[in-house]
Amino acid sequence: MLDGKKVLFSGMQSTGNLTLGNYLGALKNWVKLADEYECFYCVVDEHSITVRQDPATLRKRARALLILYIAAGIDPEKSCLYYQSHVSAHAELAWILNCFTYMGEMNRMTQFKDKSAKHADNINVGLFAYPVLMAADILLYQSDIVPVGSDQLQHLEITRDIAQRFNNIYGDVFTIPEPYVGKVGARIMSLQEPSKKMSKSDENPNASIYLMDDRDTIIRKFKRAVTDSEAMIAYREEQPGIRNLIDIYCACTNKTSGEAVKEFEGRGYGDLKMAVGETVADVLLPLQSRVAELSADKAYIDSVIKNNAEKAAYYANKTLRKVQHKIGFPDRVRG
Ligand code: TRP
Repeated sequence: MLDGKKVLFSGMQSTGNLTLGNYLGALKNWVKLADEYECFYCVVDEHSITVRQDPATLRKRARALLILYIAAGIDPEKSCLYYQSHVSAHAELAWILNCFTYMGEMNRMTQFKDKSAKHADNINVGLFAYPVLMAADILLYQSDIVPVGSDQLQHLEITRDIAQRFNNIYGDVFTIPEPYVGKVGARIMSLQEPSKKMSKSDENPNASIYLMDDRDTIIRKFKRAVTDSEAMIAYREEQPGIRNLIDIYCACTNKTSGEAVKEFEGRGYGDLKMAVGETVADVLLPLQSRVAELSADKAYIDSVIKNNAEKAAYYANKTLRKVQHKIGFPDRVRG
């Protein structure tokens, strides 16, 4: 608890171009949750270097992501928006937690297995310990809830195990966090392979709508979206392409799938694709202009970066000092 509110922590990587899936599935929910919780929304740049990055691109994208958080409607006066690398407590706590995590536990992580298969030439220790850094992120702020995609649930489970293990030895140091998987739009699928999640790392640019795509590109991609040969607009598992289009439409308009199906009853797939494309373009346009406006205001963004990193460090260091004391590191000399 912080100022009578529960604490929420979440993070996003700034690698790749963010997609409509990131916006509708995560960011849009983050905006809503910001009213109810004391929120820490982190740009997890330290996680990004588990895969080789181009320095200039990494730096540019980290700033773009932070700007996008604000453009999406998160108020940086209320929620804490910051870079992981600006708060050294993350790396320090991660080191300590490494010593309370077993090789066998990390070996079981499915994301590690997937990523090491994908980057066979660079299976580094950081990639292996990725979930421990994530545990440090979450535990530093005594977080109560953590909104994540279903692909991150295993990492949250291990975070809870590590926290519990530490608490069993040293007393109640960490709050045990709960996962929060949003209901609406939690899973936006690829436009080309609707059985797969829309991903910023997809190699086929037609599979994803990028948040900075212009209207023509958006509409063209929806026109090319894979559907089926049923020739019927219905919301059912057997028609994953159509279902995904309806999900996207509903997430943008706050309509229910029932309402959407009714609206398109008897109409062709072409109509549906066009309507979804127009709707998505209408939703993204104001977001894009806000990004442009904010990007031009260097002084303001810089002040957000500075102030929020200080705020995050204040809370993070409180937990870190407690942990360091508990495990027997010498206390700092004051004054
Ligand atoms: N691993 C998360 C992802 O790829 C990002 C992340 C890092 C995160 N630290 C976190 C998410 C802490 C929630 C809480 O999606």
